[in-house]
Amino acid sequence: MIAEPERLTLPYTSDVARATEHLYERVSRTVTPVEWELFAPYVARIEVLKDERNAVVLAHHYQSAAIYRCVADIIGDSLALAQAAAATQADVIVMCGVHFMAETAKLLSPQKIVLLPDLAAGCSLAESITAEDVRALRAAHPGVPVVTYVNTSAAVKAESDICCTSANAVAVVESLGVPRVIFIPDEYLGAYVASKTAVEIVTWRGHCEVHERFTGAQIAELREMHGDIVVLAHPECPPDVLAASDFVGSTTAMLGYIKERRPARVAMITECSMAGNVAEAFPEIEFTQPCMLCPHMQRITLPKILRALETMSPQIEIDSAIAERARRSVERMTAIGRDAR
Ligand code: 13P
Ligand code: SF4
Repeated sequence: MIAEPERLTLPYTSDVARATEHLYERVSRTVTPVEWELFAPYVARIEVLKDERNAVVLAHHYQSAAIYRCVADIIGDSLALAQAAAATQADVIVMCGVHFMAETAKLLSPQKIVLLPDLAAGCSLAESITAEDVRALRAAHPGVPVVTYVNTSAAVKAESDICCTSANAVAVVESLGVPRVIFIPDEYLGAYVASKTAVEIVTWRGHCEVHERFTGAQIAELREMHGDIVVLAHPECPPDVLAASDFVGSTTAMLGYIKERRPARVAMITECSMAGNVAEAFPEIEFTQPCMLCPHMQRITLPKILRALETMSPQIEIDSAIAERARRSVERMTAIGRDAR
């Protein structure tokens, strides 16, 4: 279910108009002038509080346009955001993303305050598996290492040997030099990795509730309507979608493809806020795809970001023993290289 839309009540004054006029052109393809008058007072107030708190705002590619293009200091995938935030001198990190992303940011910046504007912003993949499930998997497959997608809780990362992203999953699996690995929690990403390596993959039954809704039939329909369309798909999609696509990659890899190849017409088979955000930067490219929104990402709104900065809550805290073990799993991955393929 999409989060309740919040009432945007701050007034659009002449001061707000002056402070934000340079920002509107960044979102003018997706935000109407009437909507902008509702958003701009929040954007202006957040800018002031960011300075006062020495805060850095991170936004995942799936955030709405005004957050992604007008409020964020750093944009990217979840790991890139956490790494970039750790490299800043900020005292406070505001994660415009979901809970596991805020936890990863906290793991890499234990001394900084990490705010998640809505603690209920979860993830069907992260919620598909618990630390206890991982211990049971290990017991069922003694001696087989556990490779864990970053879309998991810190408690699950703590039970793992190593983390991976959708960009480096194959390289991480192969780096272990073993014939068999347990790959959690995304069954489709696991199947995709299995198709690219000789290592045997034991998968879990987790799915992304957004990507699992795309179908091969939708891709066939797109191709029938637009013969020249280039189809880019995220590896969290089902196997028939990946088989029907021209390119499979993480959000960052899809963005890289568009930047380098500049196709005239493209379909981004991923959460649909991303296509809107990318389209703002590439007005010459036509984006056409079925629209699936992540209800968890949509929970993050401008009023909630403002409230988080005003109240300095909700903060992310991770038990120190769990954090230490989870951080080790993330660091083992980064030693291999986050974008290794
Ligand atoms: P990446 O941005 O790492 O490709 O992950 C996509 C996703 O679904 C994040 O929630
Ligand atoms: Fe989780 Fe999917 Fe939403 Fe990403 S898009 S946060 S994987 S439910």
